[in-house]
Amino acid sequence: MGLPLLAVTTTEFPDGEIKYRFEEKLDGLEVLLVQATYPPSGKHYMQLFLASHHLNQEGAKVHAVMPYLGYARQSRAFLPGEIVSLGIVAHLLRSVGVQRVTTVDMHSAEGLALFSMPVYSVSAIPGLAEYVKTQVKLDDPVVVAPDAGSLKRTEAFASLYGAKFIQFKKNRDRVTGRIKMETDSVDVKGKDCVIVDDVITTGGTVAASTELLKRSGARKVVSACVHAVLLGETYDKLMKAGVDEIIGTNTVPSVVSKVDATEPVAAYLRTIIAQRK
Ligand code: R5P
Repeated sequence: MGLPLLAVTTTEFPDGEIKYRFEEKLDGLEVLLVQATYPPSGKHYMQLFLASHHLNQEGAKVHAVMPYLGYARQSRAFLPGEIVSLGIVAHLLRSVGVQRVTTVDMHSAEGLALFSMPVYSVSAIPGLAEYVKTQVKLDDPVVVAPDAGSLKRTEAFASLYGAKFIQFKKNRDRVTGRIKMETDSVDVKGKDCVIVDDVITTGGTVAASTELLKRSGARKVVSACVHAVLLGETYDKLMKAGVDEIIGTNTVPSVVSKVDATEPVAAYLRTIIAQRK
């Protein structure tokens, strides 16, 4: 973006606690504080809270740029007694002086509504669709929404690609987290398929979708997601389930980070900055 980078020294103590030292005068500055809160989410949130509070106390205006916003899935109490974690995150961000939040493909619109400051979710779906269309050899693919929550994103991807889309019915056990695909079979015999989702964490959703597609005779299965969190052995698990290729963006560090999400974020931030002038 051609903006100056603020000098900061970070120290991590042997017990994992972090310390920051900002070496410049901050008064009157507007700071884009870039921090993705992927796992370990608690630690990354703590970094963001410490830095934001200090910047704010020193007179800077803090705009948190969070390419991946952890806890976004807990935007409501799905079972009685559950905590709406995202609401608390939004509250904490405000209390440490964050005045604006920009993120990428926030899990749900419902989540955005929990923030009391301006919040905007930039979409990395156009970049993913462009990459799959130009870099992955597919023959007249079918685009797949693995669950109801991914429908809008999948529709957008399919329309940008110029392909048809289908939607699966997924059921996740709210206690065990186990996934059951309620869709039994689909008409994809001999076809290439692209599963589109916002995030892959344990890979349960993509694995179950791939098994269903392969059982239904699909030829090639590609998984395209924005946030490839891919915990532990998830990459191998998905390959074993029959996924031919996984494509993610660089909102979180990952081995499948093939699409650059920084450009659409920078483009949005430029419009915000231009409005101030
Ligand atoms: C769910 O609503 C999300 O959009 C993803 O489908 C889900 O969070 C992915 O998690 P996992 O990889 O553990 O199935």
